[in-house]
Amino acid sequence: MLEIIQLSPKTDNGYFVVKYIKKVLKSPVFWIVIVYTIFLAYSTHIEDPKEIPYPVAQINFKTSRKYISSNYAASSRLGNHLFELASVLSISRDLNRVPIFFIEDCYHEKMWEDTNNLIPGLMNQFLVINGSVPRAIRRTSFHEKCCTFDNPSVLKENKDEYLHLKGTHYQSWKYFSQMRQELLGFIKTPTNNFFYLPVSSQSTFVTCVHIRRGDFLRVGFHVAGEHFIKSSMDFVQNQEGRSRKHMATVFFGDDFSFMDSLRNSTASNSHDAFVSQNSPSDDLLYSKANCDVVIITAAHSTFGWWMGYLSKGNTVYYTDIKYTKDYILETGEFTSEDYYPPHWTALKYAGSNNLTVTRSFN
Ligand SMILES: *[C@@H]1O[C@H](CO)[C@@H](O)[C@H](O)[C@H]1NC(C)=O
Ligand SMILES: *[C@@H]1O[C@H](CO)[C@@H](O)[C@H](O)[C@H]1NC(C)=O
Ligand SMILES: *[C@@H]1O[C@H](CO)[C@@H](O)[C@H](O)[C@H]1NC(C)=O
Repeated sequence: MLEIIQLSPKTDNGYFVVKYIKKVLKSPVFWIVIVYTIFLAYSTHIEDPKEIPYPVAQINFKTSRKYISSNYAASSRLGNHLFELASVLSISRDLNRVPIFFIEDCYHEKMWEDTNNLIPGLMNQFLVINGSVPRAIRRTSFHEKCCTFDNPSVLKENKDEYLHLKGTHYQSWKYFSQMRQELLGFIKTPTNNFFYLPVSSQSTFVTCVHIRRGDFLRVGFHVAGEHFIKSSMDFVQNQEGRSRKHMATVFFGDDFSFMDSLRNSTASNSHDAFVSQNSPSDDLLYSKANCDVVIITAAHSTFGWWMGYLSKGNTVYYTDIKYTKDYILETGEFTSEDYYPPHWTALKYAGSNNLTVTRSFN
């Protein structure tokens, strides 16, 4: 802007403008007004009190170690927390850095509590520091697309004592591909014995169906319809569990009347059906102990993903997102091979006028 004005200092008017602007720029009042305006714009921008940053963390510099931390989508729920923490832990090991979890605001505090409540061993791997990330720590771009793997080896060049990643979500199994057993071991021992739900055993085969509807319907994420869900269950039943005497199905999710109607139409003399009333954390504990097979009906539910990943049978079927209108596909941030482990099975309708669910070959 200054340059444009300086182009015409020959005319009297132009000369006055330049002189005036120089004077204004030198005035402390001008700068106080600018700083105050920015401050007001910034503080009114934070509408959610849970996002007000905690006091800056007190940390030491010039230590003998190197550290890593990350930005997090802390206001999201458990499924997202698990992706982020498992990935950052695994990246910290690749880079031989100490992983730090900064409790930056109320959402981070909740994230820390909820994760601890399910999988304390995972949280124990982090150095937890109560406070927001100091400004002196540089922010480094990494993992800018929610559901696409970035190779952490690009970070090996970085020499920062405190490496702080700007990424969030980290939704790819590839970040922690060797860690399934270890993550299972980090999970707490259940205190609840889920007395009203079936127990997987030599004689009972448990199919777990995860159905996310409520908020997904509102925000444009894919939600499977009743027909697709029933047809998927038929397909899976034909593939699995034929050797056991009893079959049982448990529905998990947030829409109880929808699940109850499915339960009612699934139950028969030879087949028990239930709807879980447990907390999300208990649903994952149940899955680890009892789900022989998991069907993820809402293609991009991270909670469904973890029910499958941590399940007893490690046998998972999911709605192929390519055949849905899920909005994440339009963002270009989603890579199927990075999001779904290769041993899971994708499902779709056999054809546009054949509403039988079948395996989707990529
Ligand atoms: C972290 O600090 C905040 C205040 O800055 C406090 O309210 C909160 O209880 C602390 N959390 C933990 C886990 O110590
Ligand atoms: C359950 O199904 C039976 C028939 O199969 C029907 O009579 C009953 O009304 C259904 N109940 C609910 C709650 O849908
Ligand atoms: C529909 O697709 C299924 C699975 O591929 C196949 O078995 C069935 O024969 C098809 N039905 C018709 C009417 O084409």
